[in-house]
Amino acid sequence: MTDTDIKKGLAGVVVDYTAVSKVNPETNSLLYRGYPVQELAATQSFEAVAHLLWHGELPSDAQLAELRESERQHRALLPSVKAVIDGLPVDAHPMDEVRTAVSAIGAEETAGISNVLDAVGSPEENLERSIRLFAQLPAIVAYGQRRRRGLDLVEARDDLDYAANFLWQTFGEEPDEVVVDAFNRSMILYAEHSFNASTFTARVITSTLSDLYSAVTGAIGALKGPLHGGANEAVLHILTEIGDASNVVPWLDAALAEKRKIMGFGHRVYKKGDSRVPTMKAALDTLVAHYDRPDVAELYETLESEFVSRKGIYPNLDYPSGPAYSLMGFDTLTFTPLFVAARITGWTAHILEQQASNALIRPLSAYNGPDERHVEGYVPDEAEL
Ligand code: SDX
Repeated sequence: MTDTDIKKGLAGVVVDYTAVSKVNPETNSLLYRGYPVQELAATQSFEAVAHLLWHGELPSDAQLAELRESERQHRALLPSVKAVIDGLPVDAHPMDEVRTAVSAIGAEETAGISNVLDAVGSPEENLERSIRLFAQLPAIVAYGQRRRRGLDLVEARDDLDYAANFLWQTFGEEPDEVVVDAFNRSMILYAEHSFNASTFTARVITSTLSDLYSAVTGAIGALKGPLHGGANEAVLHILTEIGDASNVVPWLDAALAEKRKIMGFGHRVYKKGDSRVPTMKAALDTLVAHYDRPDVAELYETLESEFVSRKGIYPNLDYPSGPAYSLMGFDTLTFTPLFVAARITGWTAHILEQQASNALIRPLSAYNGPDERHVEGYVPDEAEL
């Protein structure tokens, strides 16, 4: 075994097939079940894309109506889940809140299953569980932001589709069509991205025949990290730190001198730019015009051009989505929970795929610790010889 045999971070290692999505850095493209994500973001509701990820095909009108009906039925924040959230410190990190809420839902929904061999559930049960989590996460995320602001829960509205209802439950105001469209696009762009760290975490947990809720809870833990989903929150922290475009150069000089990672830039797979960025940047531009905030665009573009010219490292999806969510009115700490609400579709599609063709995921390691040695004075008894 030599150092070159070790693929730290599993960089460049292909571990399995997936039919859910194709990330292609050569052509800088992303396909969900064969469809370019740009086409889906421009033409589909997030509900239709969820159906595509779970079932492999875009829904018929009847199938979309059925999914919408089911999603509406499960939108309400369960009183037991609200009680769990209310039991947490009001300044608990929202990703910890969401992770705890999903775990509580899992404990409630699998109560009574006393034999661990029955934990995994059937494909039909797990599709139902996926739809319920897809439906419940908006209320969990929206309530989390309102609770931190000292506001009450806003009940879901049955006359609104997924994106408009999510905004309604967060802000308690009639959502603006421009914002609904930008939000819908962001959820589609965030929905799925092959074997990223959180999705692979979900697949590892699923591979032991553990339950879907355990897999999603683990995935939320992985997504929280600033090298992964937490980057969209971290992008706003650095843009706030910079303040305005005139401060970009001195800020970047100092940040690079300290060898800081500039959040929202770089990617393990895409090396010449993230395929999703142009679509999300266009949504951001729409919001900049809608709210008349040219300062946001100027800071965004100045930092991007300065960093790319110096390091040749390009923005990822988290870079445009941070300022976009900020303009929509979401608190910075709510950004990564929004990523959870979108990625629950990709995570559960991968969980279903892993269950359908499972093998326990257990890689090897190369030992580089002390050679074998023995405890002083130990004398093995007869039975051990
Ligand atoms: C997501 O995998 C997915 O698909 C994830 C995701 C999804 O949809 O699920 O796309 C979502 O997580 C996007 C990434 C969000 N994370 C960030 O924005 C955090 C900042 N980015 C970096 O931490 C970094 O770019 C990573 C972690 C995303 C990827 O890094 P790699 O592939 O592990 O490469 P690396 O960290 O070894 O970087 C290679 C070089 C290093 O320089 P040297 O040490 O070799 O001199 O590039 C430098 C790095 O320091 N570098 C950066 C940088 N990204 C890479 N330097 C400063 N700022 C950065 N952002």
